[in-house]
Amino acid sequence: MTEAENRPNVARMYDYYLGGCHNFAADRAAAEEVLRIFPDTGVAAQSNRAFLRRVVRWAAEQGIRQFLDIGAGLPTQGNVHEVVRAIRPDARVVYVDHDEVAVAYARRLLPTDGRTVVLRGDLRRPGELLADPTLRATIDLSEPVAVLLLAVLHFVPDADDPYAAVATLRDATVPGSVLALSHLTLDGLPTLPTEQGTAIYRRSSSPLVPRTRDEVARFLDGYELVDPGLVKVADWRPDGEPQAAVSHGYGGVGVRR
Ligand SMILES: C[S@@+](CC[C@H](N)C(=O)[O-])C[C@H]1O[C@@H](n2cnc3c(N)ncnc32)[C@H](O)[C@@H]1O
Repeated sequence: MTEAENRPNVARMYDYYLGGCHNFAADRAAAEEVLRIFPDTGVAAQSNRAFLRRVVRWAAEQGIRQFLDIGAGLPTQGNVHEVVRAIRPDARVVYVDHDEVAVAYARRLLPTDGRTVVLRGDLRRPGELLADPTLRATIDLSEPVAVLLLAVLHFVPDADDPYAAVATLRDATVPGSVLALSHLTLDGLPTLPTEQGTAIYRRSSSPLVPRTRDEVARFLDGYELVDPGLVKVADWRPDGEPQAAVSHGYGGVGVRR
């Protein structure tokens, strides 16, 4: 077993919460520890995926044809390209993750049709990512883009200046572009279990940085929030599709002014 397989990995723990099979023993053990403290974590992960599907559908219906999904994770049911292509068959989707295992699985499982690409890249280095020749060949930055930062910013500590990274992405896109984000919060949750939960992630590939509602809202500076604003992900435009009512995260969508 390699060192990478021995260490719980947040992409594969999330895959386990979602009922996926691309995970190793160390991921499952750490995820089970989290589930003992927060038994509804799997439901919350499903709720985040349902939010992703609603957001992507909404953006496609607004006419967006280009999607940049950063921190995309392992392929699962209802991937971005599948949701968007049902509305815009010509849409282009760039999946980015910094985790080599997630990228390897995505390359293996996602279509290689030239309109769906998978890149290894880091949200903490947005300049490098935006300069990537494959990204530039797939996404035209003079046209609107939906940037998806779902359940990823809470893996970027303040020391790595996630606010500057998001601003760099915003400034690289034209007005009419969209930012959609979801972000873990511990607002309203009791202190002891949340400390136990974050301690498990400190041993993983990416420590967890939950943020308050105000801290999450700051990521959307420079964007006009669409209704209903920044809310618990389950409350963002529920569409009648069965979905988990539980969510530990805020979700919001803004349109670049
Ligand atoms: C919880 S998963 C979210 C997957 C998907 N976005 C979703 O919401 O269903 C978080 C993903 O973010 C990735 N990630 C964490 N830090 C990252 C960074 N600095 N740059 C790119 N990806 C990152 C992890 O590898 C993992 O695949």
